[in-house]
Amino acid sequence: MAKNKSLNAAAKAKEDEFYTQLTDVEKELRHYRNHFKGKTVFCNCDDPFESNFFKYFVLNFNRLGLKKLIATCYTGSPIAGSQLSLFDVVPNAQENRPYKAVVTTVYDATGDGGVDMDDIAELFKQGENELSELAGNGDFRSEECLALMDEADIVTTNPPFSLFNEYILTLIEHGKEFVVIGSQNSVTYKDIFPLLMTDQMWLGYNNGDMAFRVPDYYEPRETRFWIDENGQKWRSMGNIAWYTNLDIKKRHEELILVRRYDPSVYPTYANLTGCINVDKVADIPCDYDGLMGVPITFLDKYNPDQFEILGLDYDSSIPGKTGLDECFVKDYYDQGNTGSITVGHPSLGYYKPDGKVVRTYRRVIIRNRHPEEPRRI
Ligand SMILES: C[S@@+](CC[C@H](N)C(=O)[O-])C[C@H]1O[C@@H](n2cnc3c(N)ncnc32)[C@H](O)[C@@H]1O
Repeated sequence: MAKNKSLNAAAKAKEDEFYTQLTDVEKELRHYRNHFKGKTVFCNCDDPFESNFFKYFVLNFNRLGLKKLIATCYTGSPIAGSQLSLFDVVPNAQENRPYKAVVTTVYDATGDGGVDMDDIAELFKQGENELSELAGNGDFRSEECLALMDEADIVTTNPPFSLFNEYILTLIEHGKEFVVIGSQNSVTYKDIFPLLMTDQMWLGYNNGDMAFRVPDYYEPRETRFWIDENGQKWRSMGNIAWYTNLDIKKRHEELILVRRYDPSVYPTYANLTGCINVDKVADIPCDYDGLMGVPITFLDKYNPDQFEILGLDYDSSIPGKTGLDECFVKDYYDQGNTGSITVGHPSLGYYKPDGKVVRTYRRVIIRNRHPEEPRRI
């Protein structure tokens, strides 16, 4: 596939081309199988000839009981055809034109005894499934792609990282069910955190490390970059998350709490009355019924029947939070700390029993809905 230089340059500037592996799609989506029966699935950032989301759904079409699968791509993929070539299906296709694939039937069209990507190509060629050029550029925000989104029940893909907030807000606005990949860093974004806090979206199963194929034009990097024996470039990221609003078992699993509240272990923030600091999710005390500031990794363990999320440390809407006072800031510098804080700084801070001041990393403010009875001292 010839490359469209200007589009590649734009994509390169934003570094949006990270191709998900089939094993990662399978590992996550096996937890959602019962959601897909009779549904129309839309992969809206997916070159049907390259995407492993498309491949997963088309090859599992009958097993999942899908009604329809739709995939649209933004431009011709900069990764050369490895699974199925557009030109196998449409010999006189225009290069780098955005395409739409609509699949409603999958069977052994080649008669070789099984269903694979050759059957998918054959079914496109025979016109049993539809492959057609899009009128526009395939942007998920374009009218024709939004109309396809409205037709779909569930949207699933790895969308462009640079447009993640807008992408999620579009799904929410169109009332879609979804399971999509993003960066874990997004959890604290002002458009994203409120959705997690109000149970409109939660994290899936396989959050953390993930490796992606990247186009040839991606520059080598010192870390988290390699070229495999076939010359394919790879990048990995340690902060990937699956975001979904489909109900999954994981969000009903109770976090086992073994620690008990002890004021000498769990200091109270100087600038959030009655809220204690908890440094590790595993150390959340089982018997504290007030506010607790916990690391954002808590979101990966969040069960809405067990906990309530009240806000984020920098969120000025948390009642009682006023920012760091003059005394705390003075102590902070007097004790040799060098980070930049000023009076009223929104991060949370506390005094350790030995008088040392500590400013925390980002914290989610939570409350246990059913704390155990405190131990009598
Ligand atoms: C992170 S990559 C993932 C590709 C594919 N979904 C996968 O999982 O392998 C995001 C893809 O979205 C495409 N893209 C970028 N901007 C887009 C837009 N506005 N609308 C639709 N797709 C877009 C990029 O070209 C890129 O191929």
